[in-house]
Amino acid sequence: MNKQRWNPERYREDAGFVPVLGQPAVELLDPQPGERILDLGCGDGALTGDLIARGAEVVAIDASPEMVAAARARGFDARLADGQVLAFAGEFDAVFSNAALHWMTAPDAVLTGVRRALRPGGRFVGEFGGAGNVQAVIDAMTATFTNHPEFGVLRLPWYFPTPEAYRKRLMAGGFRVVTLGLHPRPTPLPGDLAAWLAIFADAITSHLDTEQKRCFTEETTAHAATKLHDVKAGWQVDYVRLRFAAVLCD
Ligand SMILES: C[S@@+](CC[C@H](N)C(=O)[O-])C[C@H]1O[C@@H](n2cnc3c(N)ncnc32)[C@H](O)[C@@H]1O
Repeated sequence: MNKQRWNPERYREDAGFVPVLGQPAVELLDPQPGERILDLGCGDGALTGDLIARGAEVVAIDASPEMVAAARARGFDARLADGQVLAFAGEFDAVFSNAALHWMTAPDAVLTGVRRALRPGGRFVGEFGGAGNVQAVIDAMTATFTNHPEFGVLRLPWYFPTPEAYRKRLMAGGFRVVTLGLHPRPTPLPGDLAAWLAIFADAITSHLDTEQKRCFTEETTAHAATKLHDVKAGWQVDYVRLRFAAVLCD
């Protein structure tokens, strides 16, 4: 697992758009009353709650103790686990995931665990960052790191596959792909890019000291502003989502 740490309060305040904009994935899942569903990378449980509200019985897992605690505080069955080493066997009608699979950089290990966790005919439905996701932010971070050799090598903690690559993986993993596509989704931020970086670039800056982090944020924000900031509209990040539904082959 990577070094990314999560702060549920900050996430709710400055990244509440993540579960809100994950609704198309929930619609694609179309959870039914009584279905047993695994929410993979549940975060603070915002969407877990939506699945439960539709009558599903949900087990939620996440690798962040803080996020698991926040989901438990909502009264959900949330468990601390790495999605890359799932230990469930044949017990779910569906596995659902929003905005989490790109943090799991061993995708085949995820698929192996998802396949094992599902009942025959079970479905795997989700949405995560696809090829080109937050590219303007990545370009800005690259410029900052290039300016500062003392920051070391920029290591991105994300897996943003092309649709073709992920389709191949799903098929090789024993799934029939029902639908799969890229969805460019420019996303207005409730705050500024500094708040976004504080939440999502933690793993990238965890080795920097306080002054270096301040410098990283300032310079990255300045680089990104030309593409992502508008005086009237504020910040808009170039999200590109990969949304898919697949069914376990017999
Ligand atoms: C952007 S949040 C999305 C949370 C939630 N699904 C939502 O829609 O709000 C990404 C989540 O993926 C979790 N995550 C990252 N790597 C993981 C892994 N290897 N196993 C399980 N969860 C992981 C993080 O801890 C974080 O809570």
